[in-house]
Amino acid sequence: MTTTYPIAVIGGDGTGPEVAAEGIKVMDALADRFGLKFDWHYYDLGGERYLKTGEILPAAALEELKKFSVIYLGAIGHPDVKPGILEKGLLLRLRFELEQYINLRPVKLYPGVATPLKDKGPDDIDFVVVRENNEGLYLGAGGVFKKGSAQEVAVQESINTRFGVERCLRYAFELTRKRGKKNMLTLCGKTNVLTFAFDLWERAFHEIGAKDYPEIKRDYAHVDATCMWMVKNPEYFDVIVTDNMFGDIITDLGAMIQGGMGIAAGGNINPEGTSMFEPIGGSAPKYTGQKKINPLAAIAAGQMMLDFLGQETAAAAMEEAIVRTCGKLESLSAGKMGYNTEEVGDLVAGFVRE
Ligand code: IPM
Ligand code: MG
Repeated sequence: MTTTYPIAVIGGDGTGPEVAAEGIKVMDALADRFGLKFDWHYYDLGGERYLKTGEILPAAALEELKKFSVIYLGAIGHPDVKPGILEKGLLLRLRFELEQYINLRPVKLYPGVATPLKDKGPDDIDFVVVRENNEGLYLGAGGVFKKGSAQEVAVQESINTRFGVERCLRYAFELTRKRGKKNMLTLCGKTNVLTFAFDLWERAFHEIGAKDYPEIKRDYAHVDATCMWMVKNPEYFDVIVTDNMFGDIITDLGAMIQGGMGIAAGGNINPEGTSMFEPIGGSAPKYTGQKKINPLAAIAAGQMMLDFLGQETAAAAMEEAIVRTCGKLESLSAGKMGYNTEEVGDLVAGFVRE
């Protein structure tokens, strides 16, 4: 019996479509072996379309996207479009409209991959960041007053709701339980300064944990200390849960210690609706068409997507193929892999067929 999955694809800008194509190649190669079929539905959204038509995310496209359980995204960001327009109009809008309230970012160093952390290896770097994805500073609350004058005032507020915080924490507790590694969930915040927002987070964390997840060890770290420990002793972490802004920042640090943007992937999750998987590096527009970008991050995003769809065995085969490919590349960095983008996709596709 074949299981068919309709999947929306947004290649997006710059090198986004190139890397997404390699992920699709690998998933199609897997499909036969696991009795799966993927129906790819392509959506032409991104900077080029905006420059041509002025449209960023037309209502009709959004309605269609809502019907899929998953979206596979390349990258968003165009050099001719002012920063913020596409990010807010497309990427963040999708995250909000589709209520993808979790941004899930595994930080895992594969064997043979170089990390800038001296003396740390795959046994030391293996944790997951659960980033709240629908609230905080990202909501755009605030405003400006007397713009351009010497008295200009700019206010940008962080919105934290008990509902939003609680569902994020519950997801993180469940994940910690499911992972079964150290059974420790670290809340990353700034309770010594952001005494309103992180007080809410901290109280909810302990209430929910004590009541429903008594076997999970509750740990707390300020965001600055979290950054220090991610470099000094990353083996300390199991699952980290944090707000939108801190999650954005610490996951770039996480991407670097796991070998760089060439491998880092993430999922924007709505467990009850439409989720979206993406490599976390940008659109790298200067490399467009040069086949220099490492598609492994996009392929790893595909692996997370399969796992989310409940195809754990296929996802595990994909991960194994990624690990074997890492062992073949000279470096994970753009232009230094020893192979071009398509050849890296071919290597992974070859391994998944074995
Ligand atoms: C990310 C990115 C986005 C974010 C940008 C492009 C808006 O940095 O996915 O981490 O800040 O969330
Ligand atoms: Mg980011």
